[in-house]
Amino acid sequence: MDVIGSIQEMQSLSNTLRQEGKRIAFVPTMGFLHDGHLSLMREAKKHADVLVTSIFVNPAQFGPSEDLDAYPRAMESDLAKSKEVGVDVVFTPTNDQIYPDGYETYVQLETLPNHLCGLSRPVFFKGITTVVTKLFNIIKPHVAVFGEKDFQQLAIIRRMVKDLNMDVEILGGTLIREADGLAMSSRNAYLTEPQRKEALRLSQSLDKVRDRVAQGETSVAALRTLAEKHLTECPMIQIDYISLCNPETLDEVETLTGPTLMALAVTMGATRLIDNRVLVP
Ligand code: PAF
Repeated sequence: MDVIGSIQEMQSLSNTLRQEGKRIAFVPTMGFLHDGHLSLMREAKKHADVLVTSIFVNPAQFGPSEDLDAYPRAMESDLAKSKEVGVDVVFTPTNDQIYPDGYETYVQLETLPNHLCGLSRPVFFKGITTVVTKLFNIIKPHVAVFGEKDFQQLAIIRRMVKDLNMDVEILGGTLIREADGLAMSSRNAYLTEPQRKEALRLSQSLDKVRDRVAQGETSVAALRTLAEKHLTECPMIQIDYISLCNPETLDEVETLTGPTLMALAVTMGATRLIDNRVLVP
């Protein structure tokens, strides 16, 4: 496995691979890898000859009061896990390379970021679409895999690729859960033991709503109340949003008439957690 820190070196390797007719798959990450990331890498491997990942904690997607400095980092074990899963190249640029002095170009969608996480994290998706565009230009992948855990991110990347005619296929990777149901996230590492137990309320709320939908409930107000009640029974949980929306446009719906995304975001202390499930009435 090669570890490449330089943009020029990465671009030149990708050019050579393409000239040799090799298909490149890409999984971008911010490191602190868990089984969720590794499952995206295993999926990506099925679709290409060479698997490239990146490890870069992207400052542009963190607001001024967010956890950029505290974000967990574990380069050595990330490289070991990447090697084990069969990654061929890990791209590890520095902040100065990605955002050199004088940097001023950003990629931003008009509407999709104005929903769900974008409402309380105003710079988040602008930072993501910018860095993903840059990584695509550097790594030149034929296919890239993004997790369905970050459902809004996946929807935004798909839209951006379509709108800007980027020549890369985007695949969604299944959301991976811990054995007890908690959605895997690098931020789970922040949770204290009592918070970790109560964090299960996110997946439990989604399960309760799924079961109620299976019994025939289609009123979003009723379903939202059910989830809200289960979450707010725990005083440690502050709800950011409970959204039931169209999975493509992310527009809120009032009645379930087709596949509907139910997405949750809460904070527990300083830790922000998200989870989602597509409901089929
Ligand atoms: O999902 C993530 O880890 C990040 O948002 C990404 C796609 C690596 C961009 O920094």
